[in-house]
Amino acid sequence: MSLRTEPTPTTSPAPRPDKHDPTTLGFQTQSVHAGNEIDAGSGALRTPIVMANSYALPEDPSTLSWSGATPGLYTRNTGTNQQGLQQKLAVLEGGEDAVTLASGVAALHAVFFTLLKSGDHVVVANVTYEASYRLFTELLPEKYGIEATFVDATDLAAVRGAIRSSTRLIHIETVGNPTTAVTDVAAVATIAHEAGALLSIDNTFTPPPLFRPIEHGADLVVHSLTKYINGHGDAMGGAVIGGAALIRRIKLDAMVDVGGVISPFNAWLIMRGSVTLPLRIRQHCESALAIARLLEADPRVAFVAYPGLASHPQHAVALRQLSHGFGGVLAFAVAGDKATQNRFVANLRVITSAVSLGHDESLIVHVDNSGPRVAAYPAAFREFGHLRFSVGLEDTADLVADLVAALDATFSAAA
Ligand SMILES: Cc1ncc(COP(=O)(O)O)c(C=O)c1O
Repeated sequence: MSLRTEPTPTTSPAPRPDKHDPTTLGFQTQSVHAGNEIDAGSGALRTPIVMANSYALPEDPSTLSWSGATPGLYTRNTGTNQQGLQQKLAVLEGGEDAVTLASGVAALHAVFFTLLKSGDHVVVANVTYEASYRLFTELLPEKYGIEATFVDATDLAAVRGAIRSSTRLIHIETVGNPTTAVTDVAAVATIAHEAGALLSIDNTFTPPPLFRPIEHGADLVVHSLTKYINGHGDAMGGAVIGGAALIRRIKLDAMVDVGGVISPFNAWLIMRGSVTLPLRIRQHCESALAIARLLEADPRVAFVAYPGLASHPQHAVALRQLSHGFGGVLAFAVAGDKATQNRFVANLRVITSAVSLGHDESLIVHVDNSGPRVAAYPAAFREFGHLRFSVGLEDTADLVADLVAALDATFSAAA
């Protein structure tokens, strides 16, 4: 007679999370698996690059919508690599869907072009990426009769005061380029929704896991994928993430009908780069905070703007709003005129003078204090101009040594 006892029947175990539906898994796991499929044809573990602009039609093509935004027809209507990246970005930002386009500016334009029409009014932060400013001061008013009011988005009374009966949209950046002004997104979302308007957020400076604007009430999130999400400085792309109905409108109007699509190759590169997003972001934030503190303590530095510093005017909002760190971009100036800023940059050996941000390598750009935009910037930016510094993934010690050596060279030459 067997002494083996049968296991007591229990209730069936809870379903376990699956990497092919990573939405219930942690952010790092999602960054590895979301949007990626084992290739049915080859068994390859990563979705291959599908460099085709057209797909085989079913026997009865009349079942397809020529102007639809589903894969399996034509790459302008969504190709395999776009589709995977869109799925992934929707998961990472906590949206229902996403649309990918050729650049961050194409994504910004896609939001404004799709949602706004002649006579509509927009409230726009007075600190944003240059192209948003140009779109709302030149192209959109001149060509489409869309009006914009620029406000200090960190001043909630000013945002509220700028609303009109024709306001359809508020557009801001979580951390503004270039001053690093931090807006209270939940508060601005409330203002927008009370006015019957939508809120779009350019979240390029603070990609997830740092900040997920949809969880704070934003309707649409825009990214320049060119920056942190790709992270390697080798591809351009843009995306809009949000609710399914809004994204469908943007896909049909801006992607299918205007056609600024991302290439399959760039979508694949960005998909690959995004796998390490949480690891890279951790390093960017760690080095940026250490460098911001070092620069702030140096008497040869005129000012430092970084949301992680207690001296930052919206440090309290940043602490409340951002998780895991304050981003990888800071703005500062050395004590001196325009020629001194240029000399300092020329004295750098590890950090490269170039536009863009969020790359693996550190990039710095000197922007002087001329031009119409500067009036909206804090006094120190108006006095000295600024150096926008995107802190890269090099050893923190090497970056610190480069900055200190450049300060020594600049100021010993001046003495
Ligand atoms: C905050 C922000 N949004 C959008 C863009 C535009 O992105 P892209 O260069 O991919 O068009 C940039 C570019 O620097 C940016 O900094």
